[in-house]
Amino acid sequence: MSKLLVGADATPAPYDFDTVLDRGNLSTLKWEMEIARANDPGLLSFGTADMDFRSPPSVLKAVQSVAKEGHFGYPLKRPGYYEAIVGYLDRHFGWKVEKDWLESGVGIYQSMHPVITELTEPGDEIIYQPPVHHVFAEIIEANDRVAVPNQLLNRRGAYEMDFAGLEAAITCRTKLLLLCSPHNPVGRVWTLGELRLLAAICEKRNIIVVSDEVYSGLLYPGSTFVAFASLSQWTSMNTYTMISPSKPFNLTGLKHSIVIAANPAFRAAYRKGIARTNLHYGTSIFGLAGAEAGYRDSDDWTNALMQYVARNFEYVRAQFGKHLPEVTLTVPEATYFSWLDLAPLGAAKERYQALIERAARLVVTYGESMGRGGEQHIRLNLATPLSNLAAGVDRLLAVLVPLTGRDYSKG
Ligand SMILES: Cc1ncc(COP(=O)(O)O)c(C=O)c1O
Repeated sequence: MSKLLVGADATPAPYDFDTVLDRGNLSTLKWEMEIARANDPGLLSFGTADMDFRSPPSVLKAVQSVAKEGHFGYPLKRPGYYEAIVGYLDRHFGWKVEKDWLESGVGIYQSMHPVITELTEPGDEIIYQPPVHHVFAEIIEANDRVAVPNQLLNRRGAYEMDFAGLEAAITCRTKLLLLCSPHNPVGRVWTLGELRLLAAICEKRNIIVVSDEVYSGLLYPGSTFVAFASLSQWTSMNTYTMISPSKPFNLTGLKHSIVIAANPAFRAAYRKGIARTNLHYGTSIFGLAGAEAGYRDSDDWTNALMQYVARNFEYVRAQFGKHLPEVTLTVPEATYFSWLDLAPLGAAKERYQALIERAARLVVTYGESMGRGGEQHIRLNLATPLSNLAAGVDRLLAVLVPLTGRDYSKG
């Protein structure tokens, strides 16, 4: 384990996160789909987990140089690709991974699918920890396995794992636990102590862990991340770790994910699973180039990015503190999300959703999609220029503050 140094006094390189993107030629689910759906070019989107920033310069250069070559044959992973990932995991988390442990896929959830089908039987139970990204439960159920929630404990916006609940939830049919680390949407970076407790329970009950660590590249200044598989010999041999350049370098459209398993039997099972759909043959040539450049050359950029995101969070917190202190904001340690509890406003979901969508013309992610404990919450995507965020927060407060009976003036 080592600390990723992105302290407040580190000087960020001069990257531009303030300029609002020219969306002229862009076509994304986050913006263009929502604008078309609402037929409203003035809508602001804080939904889908993409950033409103261009990718790091090193990544742009690498992808452009592939395009310039003009040849897009089935690509072979080259040594530099493996070195970049192995180097990144060691440099950031002190996790020593061997090149042979790395497999790949076209997305984190696509990569979970073969793990589920190869290691479990229909009807087996898989534990997940809501509120969590909606696909966790969906991918379990889509494979005819039983999704068993082990809901996080929420202490006035501070989240913890429910270890007693976890022990109680395990049965003889429990085979896997899907861990979200760091956690989307609550932004927790699980501590060494928490992960050790989790590992002890899984070891005792012989449960394999699939650790989705896609947000480990997006840590707030001062956060220390520990890779679950790096905890012990047992976790090393009983974990599938999933990472992707998609979130840290804003490459969700390049469709490349990385699966790490020290256990050769786990790798064989994974390969067998993806061979069913021929996904073992070749991968995205742009995904490989983006991953290599991102993991090798983008530390300064992500450091500067997370300082920007942290400032954006402080902006949201200050505005809500001033105008709507009833709403609890969870303090994130990672990710680019802000998680807000609207329950104290006492409004029905239908009422605040209509206000947010139709009066404020905003897209946010509603917490009920994240399962138990997500009700009455919204998730805001903070990876956007401050000017855009400020406009969105202003519109949000303008519709939510009147629910308290008070007037809203920007002040
Ligand atoms: C926790 C989590 N895992 C995985 C994904 C999907 O990642 P990818 O696009 O790399 O498959 C998301 C997307 O939002 C996510 O929130």
